[in-house]
Amino acid sequence: MVAARRRVHASGFFDPVATAVAHAVQQTVTTDRPALVADVGAGTGHYLATALDRDDRLRGLGIDLSKYCARAVARCHPRAAALVADVWRPWPIRTGTVGAVLSVFSPRNIDEFARVLHPAGTLVVVTPRPDHLVEIVGPMGMLEVGADKDTRLRTATAAHFDLVDHTDVRVSRGLDAALVADVVAMGPSAFHRSAEDIRADADTLTAASGGHLDVTVSVGVSIFRPRVTAEPAVDGISAPT
Ligand SMILES: C[S@@+](CC[C@H](N)C(=O)[O-])C[C@H]1O[C@@H](n2cnc3c(N)ncnc32)[C@H](O)[C@@H]1O
Repeated sequence: MVAARRRVHASGFFDPVATAVAHAVQQTVTTDRPALVADVGAGTGHYLATALDRDDRLRGLGIDLSKYCARAVARCHPRAAALVADVWRPWPIRTGTVGAVLSVFSPRNIDEFARVLHPAGTLVVVTPRPDHLVEIVGPMGMLEVGADKDTRLRTATAAHFDLVDHTDVRVSRGLDAALVADVVAMGPSAFHRSAEDIRADADTLTAASGGHLDVTVSVGVSIFRPRVTAEPAVDGISAPT
């Protein structure tokens, strides 16, 4: 899965998403907040590395349950470090010390997002839209995107965060059979299938469209700010007035 994810990211297929995420982080880089970017469920660290490339004041921490992903994150950028941790357990990160949290196609522990973020920090969440990878989801037997993901995200974040911006990214690109197979193999849809089966289906599907199939990337990029409360400062960091 890690190798497939790396090849897909190296192909540039998800670059418009990585650019949108990096732009959201860069907009928030100011001297009044920590320069630490935490990518939670970081995978190979592609989104973290793209954000770090934009501004050399930033440092990165990629968190993932998989040690294979953590190894990839540790090598993804000279200013990135990796942490093997379960999103659903308390993270070994001090309260209020993170400038930006990234959550890209990954499990979201909203309470921990809110705890580790500096009061002036930013949460960037990427969620798939219903037409994400629509050309291959059915034919390749992939898991479908649940309806109303954006509404569920806003409901889940409402207690701690205000939505300050939202952008939809929708692009389409021709993929060959090897990349179609990798897009399937990099995600949870591949858990119960062999690489050979996935590749055979990808060969059949792309052959029917002349060797390349146009595949759509369609996601929402949501930017949240912690809701400012009148509570006292945490760990010596004052809330903005
Ligand atoms: C769909 S992948 C997304 C990876 C990366 N953000 C990307 O888009 O390339 C989800 C990631 O979340 C990680 N993950 C799943 N459950 C987790 C958990 N409970 N704690 C930490 N990471 C988890 C997986 O190992 C995987 O790397």
